[in-house]
Amino acid sequence: MFKIEEVKLQLLADLDKINSMEKLNNLKVEYLGKKGKITELTSQVKTLDNDKKKEFGIKLNELKKLFNENYNQIYTKLNEELINKKLQSEKIDITLPATKVKRGSKHPMSRVQEEFEDLFLSMGYTIYDGPELESDENCFQKLNIAKGHPARDAQDTFYLEGEYENYLLRTQTSTAQVRAMEENKEKGPLKIVCPGKVYRRDEDATHSHQFMQIEGLVIDKDISMADLKGTLELFLKKFLGENTEVRFRPSFFPFTEPSVEVDISCFKCGGKGCNLCKHTGWIEVLGAGMVHPHVLEMSGYDPNKYQGFAFGTGIDRFAMFKYSITDIRTIYGNDIRFLTQFDRRDEE
Ligand code: DAH
Repeated sequence: MFKIEEVKLQLLADLDKINSMEKLNNLKVEYLGKKGKITELTSQVKTLDNDKKKEFGIKLNELKKLFNENYNQIYTKLNEELINKKLQSEKIDITLPATKVKRGSKHPMSRVQEEFEDLFLSMGYTIYDGPELESDENCFQKLNIAKGHPARDAQDTFYLEGEYENYLLRTQTSTAQVRAMEENKEKGPLKIVCPGKVYRRDEDATHSHQFMQIEGLVIDKDISMADLKGTLELFLKKFLGENTEVRFRPSFFPFTEPSVEVDISCFKCGGKGCNLCKHTGWIEVLGAGMVHPHVLEMSGYDPNKYQGFAFGTGIDRFAMFKYSITDIRTIYGNDIRFLTQFDRRDEE
């Protein structure tokens, strides 16, 4: 009996000191664990005489009840405190200003490329995508530019070595003409534009070693220079404004015959002459011509049945015109201050 009273007093004293879950758990072990004080008392029951057993049992149960009640009460209290603490620390102040989500903006080249694509799609063209790594054959030979041809001088590029020495980084999207014609097994009509990156061994304020072109090719029966003129005039006026004047000059490209260069009236001075147009009133923007019969033939077309026209231009130049960019290198420089201003400019 005496022992129960002692344990009870001890328990009451211990309960007073519990101020954490950890201590509460330890207390449970101390009293109800394998060698716990209450457990020990329980094991003594069987050693007692029958007349003492009953009273001992009642007292022991009271002690257990005392323990459990207090344990539960303290557990609830501590648990509540923990939850409140957590709620307090995880409180969100919805009146605080939000962190700004950084929004990307479209690259000026993508903007112009998409505008070009939309224009040609509306005229019934499909977009053709060709690889930047090309064979010498597709980039030059099948466009009538044989090995050693002087036209290669203006298009020096990056060549691969060893077993891939016949491969290079394409210098012109005109390679798409060859690919599209060869892929077209029926050797029938074609109407494609191919925008993409091209590479040359150049670098100054108006030339970059990497730049972008768009190539166009139309093949059908009875295609003439009139189709070429009409298409390019429409394209240039749509992009640069209806008041733009377009001029065609005879020129030379190995893969077209006849060939033309296309000028637009200077949009800065209106044709009077300024530094942009080098005081001529005109700016050269496109190369074009009727696809050379030999080029058609090399890619499996019968030049007696089909004719075609082709054109090519640098997308960078148009971006420079549109956004008054004076140094092409800024377009590829990845300077975020330069690249983020075009959303605003397009809205104006
Ligand atoms: N590929 C030529 C260049 O890079 C541009 C060009 C000229 C493309 C005449 C054509 C064309 O399709 O007919 O300078």
